[in-house]
Amino acid sequence: MTRTLLQVRDLSKRFKERKVVKGISFSIAEGCCTALLGPNGAGKTTTISMLTGLLQPSGGSIELLINGSPAADRRPYIGFLPQMPVFYPWMTGAEFLLYAGELAGLTSREAKRMTGEWLEAVGLSGEGKRRIGGYSGGMKQRLGLAQALIHRPKLLILDEPVSALDPKGRKDVLTLLQRIRRETTVLFSTHVLHDAEEICDEILMIHNGNLALQGSLDHVRRTYSEPVIRLEVGE
Ligand SMILES: Nc1ncnc2c1ncn2[C@@H]1O[C@H](COP(=O)(O)OP(=O)(O)OP(=O)(O)O)[C@@H](O)[C@H]1O
Ligand SMILES: [Mg+2]
Repeated sequence: MTRTLLQVRDLSKRFKERKVVKGISFSIAEGCCTALLGPNGAGKTTTISMLTGLLQPSGGSIELLINGSPAADRRPYIGFLPQMPVFYPWMTGAEFLLYAGELAGLTSREAKRMTGEWLEAVGLSGEGKRRIGGYSGGMKQRLGLAQALIHRPKLLILDEPVSALDPKGRKDVLTLLQRIRRETTVLFSTHVLHDAEEICDEILMIHNGNLALQGSLDHVRRTYSEPVIRLEVGE
């Protein structure tokens, strides 16, 4: 039986009088990989910012369930890679991970060990001593993933992790995510259905601040796919 990890009820966000997230409800099961799909301006980043605790919701509730009961503070259990991550260019990759690990509450010894492990896991072990200013977009994104995972979060949230990357960087990050999703519950936003199809089991589609569609990828395919060729045969 799958257990619910995240329970969102009637979540909304208003900026001045403009409502941009209009009361959405969904849940994410432990061990599941969910894609938050939607066009530009749909409300993906706003929703994610509320889930991670960066934005205060205007209404509704968000619960992260640890052993069945809601965590008082969900932030320690979440790893997050923002849509446009910002790095200190003068830091080396290893220094940045060490810093992120200590910020997340690891002891400096643990942070050092995890830095080595994660540099290796994201394929940057040879680059850890280089300054981030000299990294490519794909390398920065992989470093961002390592940063989000360094404290072994229960839930990994990624805001458009591949949209700014070239095909090679995109493939690298998706392959890495495919590996990570075996161990961690993942929620990531994208406006590319194909990315979702590659690694997700569940889909949440938002449009104009409303949840337009939700369910398993199989269910969505079965319900909405249409035949490519329709033959009509005369008598
Ligand atoms: N701080 C803010 N103040 C006012 N309006 C905002 C603010 N942040 C977002 N919005 C508006 O909320 C709506 C949803 O924006 P959001 O960034 O959540 O969309 P998105 O789905 O992440 O889009 P994209 O694919 O372009 O990243 C947009 O119309 C945007 O203009
Ligand atoms: Mg966004």
